Amino acid sequence: MKYAIGAILGVALFAWLFSLCSPAGKNKTGHEYFPDMAHPVSYEANLYSAYDWNHWDKDNLKKTAELSQPKGKVAGTVPRGYTGVYYNGAAELDKVRGKNAANAIAAPVNGQAPFYYENTEEERLRCEQEMTVNPFPVTKESLEKAKPLYDIYCGICHGEKGDGQGWLVSMTDSKYPAQPKNLIADDMKAAGEGRYYFAIMYGKNVMGSYADKLSFEERWQVIHYIRSLQAK
Ligand code: HEC
Repeated sequence: MKYAIGAILGVALFAWLFSLCSPAGKNKTGHEYFPDMAHPVSYEANLYSAYDWNHWDKDNLKKTAELSQPKGKVAGTVPRGYTGVYYNGAAELDKVRGKNAANAIAAPVNGQAPFYYENTEEERLRCEQEMTVNPFPVTKESLEKAKPLYDIYCGICHGEKGDGQGWLVSMTDSKYPAQPKNLIADDMKAAGEGRYYFAIMYGKNVMGSYADKLSFEERWQVIHYIRSLQAK
């Protein structure tokens, strides 16, 4: 009898011990026969999956954390086929879009423009004072293009109306740690274009940068769109 109970307990113990390793759940990968099954050794954009059994971090000069960050272009360069343009009448825009006979090669105006401001409070103010004009014309099409960009990248926090009541903060049991700026309040109505552009380039405190998500033209279109929300 004693042995029988011992045997049953032994089997149960083994079964329990095995069950500990296997089931995959929310943030658990479950059983991994090889350390790279659920944790890739390759590095993947915007995905940081550190794992002790992968020795990448120990053996390489660049850390996976660094490699998984979004990357920009090489400083001081403009990727081929991209251009930034300072709006100076529709004719100028048409020229880079290849609609002008003198320059039949189109360069998409969704491109690159240098940004020389550092990420500091003084530079934030300087940027607001110096960048006073949105270089793109406000058109019906550009507002239509900007709406989904705004809703996806900004509205989740700042709200579809711009009132700072986005889903992340307004949903029940929200744990979002900071109040997103109310973009349609008077201080933001009075704020210069550069303050918006700077916020997109560098973010602010808990808000991250959206420079790698929005192109040069898209950033300015989103700013036009925010202005249109303010006008409502
Ligand atoms: C994950 C949430 C989140 C998203 C997404 C987000 N923001 Fe923010 N944003 C914040 C928070 C929080 C603040 C307030 C930061 C502070 O003052 O500490 C803020 C502040 C700002 C400010 C004010 C900066 C200043 O100078 O005071 C602007 C402008 C802004 N956001 C624009 C945007 C735009 C444009 C987008 C989309 C490209 C965007 N935000 C996306 C959370 C977010």
